[in-house]
Amino acid sequence: MNLFNVYPRYNVTPVKAKDCMVTDDKDIQYLDLYGGHGVISIGHAHPHYLKKLKRQLDAIGFYSNAVQNPLQCELAEKLGQLSEYQKYNLFLCNSGAEANENALKLASFYNQKKRVVTFDNSFHGRTSVAVSVTDNPKINAPINSTNPKTFLPLNRVDLVEQELKKGDVCAVIIEGIQGVGGLDEGTTTFFQELEKQCKQYDVVFIVDEVQSGYGRSGKFFAHQYHKVKPDIISVAKGMGNGFPIGGILISPKFKAAYGMLGTTFGGNHLACAAGISVLETIEKEKLIENVNAVSDYFIKKAQKIPQVKKIKGKGLMLGLEFDFEVAEIRKKLICEKHIFTGGAMNKKLLRILPPLTVQKEHIDTFFKSLKEILN
Ligand SMILES: Cc1ncc(COP(=O)(O)O)c(C=O)c1O
Repeated sequence: MNLFNVYPRYNVTPVKAKDCMVTDDKDIQYLDLYGGHGVISIGHAHPHYLKKLKRQLDAIGFYSNAVQNPLQCELAEKLGQLSEYQKYNLFLCNSGAEANENALKLASFYNQKKRVVTFDNSFHGRTSVAVSVTDNPKINAPINSTNPKTFLPLNRVDLVEQELKKGDVCAVIIEGIQGVGGLDEGTTTFFQELEKQCKQYDVVFIVDEVQSGYGRSGKFFAHQYHKVKPDIISVAKGMGNGFPIGGILISPKFKAAYGMLGTTFGGNHLACAAGISVLETIEKEKLIENVNAVSDYFIKKAQKIPQVKKIKGKGLMLGLEFDFEVAEIRKKLICEKHIFTGGAMNKKLLRILPPLTVQKEHIDTFFKSLKEILN
């Protein structure tokens, strides 16, 4: 059997990894400033993560949601504490798309409406409703076109109100900071206005923190820069440091009912062990402080490069925008300098999503290599 060939892949085969370094099958070491697409939060093969997962595997790896699982409660408790959402409830699933799918479904159960307001250049995943509110016709099949949605430009509160006033909007969904689209973000005024209008028109306010959450932005959640409290927050990526896990943080205004949401694998023992160890490490190693320190250092260095036209994003979710396409630079960074970086829908943007443990020396290595390539 062959693989269904849907991924254009670089010709690199990682076989092991430690913290910010990835080693391939030819024993070449790569600096990971991509974190496997913003997934590696506490660093590859973190000792605490390995210890917890191995112990859990020896004890019990999986049982279904038909029985008690205290690890889920421990994870919810710790997440509530670190994110300052103690009063919210947690539903666990397996990926970012699934988190958004459940968020939108819960919104629609809640207010019995259907239409979703979403934003230009957004990415919310590839499952049915999540992909339909993603701004990319190429990944939407005809079967995804059935639920009503409206795409609006970011930061146009007037246009949002025009739509919400019509009375049929179930939810507004917005990324804390746009990831795949290219690191554009709503202003504080915009986020605050969304919160206000959603309350006014009985619309559920969902913030997708799948990529921007878990400390990556320099706060636990990117929306916390704007002092808003969404009704539902979706998380995944950094949550499991590579172990598949996702979830939604749900305001207490939503009442749960048996069977309303559900999943076989969501919240399994191994996923919870991974999730708990990530939160413990973020706290113990003060990784959010590291994000802010390294981010400032990175931005100062980037400002000195004349070819960089714009620096976008926050924390360690950063983008360098050039006035030319960056595919060639990315390729050279990987093949010649052995540094992984990310791309975006915006082809002129180089995306930086390193493990949150990244150090200033790594940033020095990156800029030295980038300058050599640019010159
Ligand atoms: C903001 C955002 N939401 C949702 C997703 C989908 O997550 P997953 O690929 O885990 O389904 C992604 C993935 O890149 C994302 O960046």
